[in-house]
Amino acid sequence: MNLKSFDAAAGYLPDECFTREPDLGIILGSGWGDALTMDECLVRIPYADIPTLGGPTVKGHAGEFVLYTLNGRRIAAWCGRRHYYEGAGWEPVVLPVEILRRMGCNKLLVTNAAGGINPALKAGDFVVVRDHINLVGINPLIGTHEEQWGPRFPDMTEVYSRSLAEKLHAGAHRLDLRIMDGVYAYTSGPCYETPAEIRAYKAQGADVVGMSTVPETIFAHACGMKVAAISLVSNLAAGIASTPLSHQEVIAAAEKSRPVMRALIEDFIARS
Ligand code: HPA
Repeated sequence: MNLKSFDAAAGYLPDECFTREPDLGIILGSGWGDALTMDECLVRIPYADIPTLGGPTVKGHAGEFVLYTLNGRRIAAWCGRRHYYEGAGWEPVVLPVEILRRMGCNKLLVTNAAGGINPALKAGDFVVVRDHINLVGINPLIGTHEEQWGPRFPDMTEVYSRSLAEKLHAGAHRLDLRIMDGVYAYTSGPCYETPAEIRAYKAQGADVVGMSTVPETIFAHACGMKVAAISLVSNLAAGIASTPLSHQEVIAAAEKSRPVMRALIEDFIARS
């Protein structure tokens, strides 16, 4: 990855973004563009205006950066994400994390929609991601090593912070939500999986499957951030579901869950 392309993006953002470190960074997946409760919006910028990032090419991803306050906390939120399958390389995928790092942020919450593999899961459930399996076999840290991105060989024993995961559970409990811990399997997409792939991932220990989160999380963890991730089970995975999978179904499930996701995020902010 090219540091200069990140410099261009950081240079585009107003000084306000760098005057005080955010208490929390958020990356919101499909359908949750407006799941944020704000007291004051300090900065709002469409992705399309930010060099290197560019507008999302996927329907359902809002594509807006917002810096805002809630109950005295300062939050930097990326509403919508770029994916590796969009074909623009890793830079737009990890840029939100790199900007958060440059702002001095050390805590990140990531949300995604995922297919449910574990038979205990139903569509509409939430899963606190406790670990992942990177099935893509490539990694955003491949390439020149930059000191500021952490060690050359990052330890991956606790990528998802235990203490932050507990805060997600406490919030879910308060909201009376069905929630469980799980392992997220990361595939490149853009195809959904075959039933044979899902059987293989299940045998490997995956509970949910999706096309995001892991690259951002690898990068954030390597840089020393604490990460929490939550998946909405938008559908049962291929071969478990009785109907073919579709992006419309994923977006509709995310939109339906928006009030709950909003409450979970608010609660998480209050606890962290
Ligand atoms: N597979 C991969 N990615 C997904 C799925 C799925 O079933 N649902 C939402 N994102």
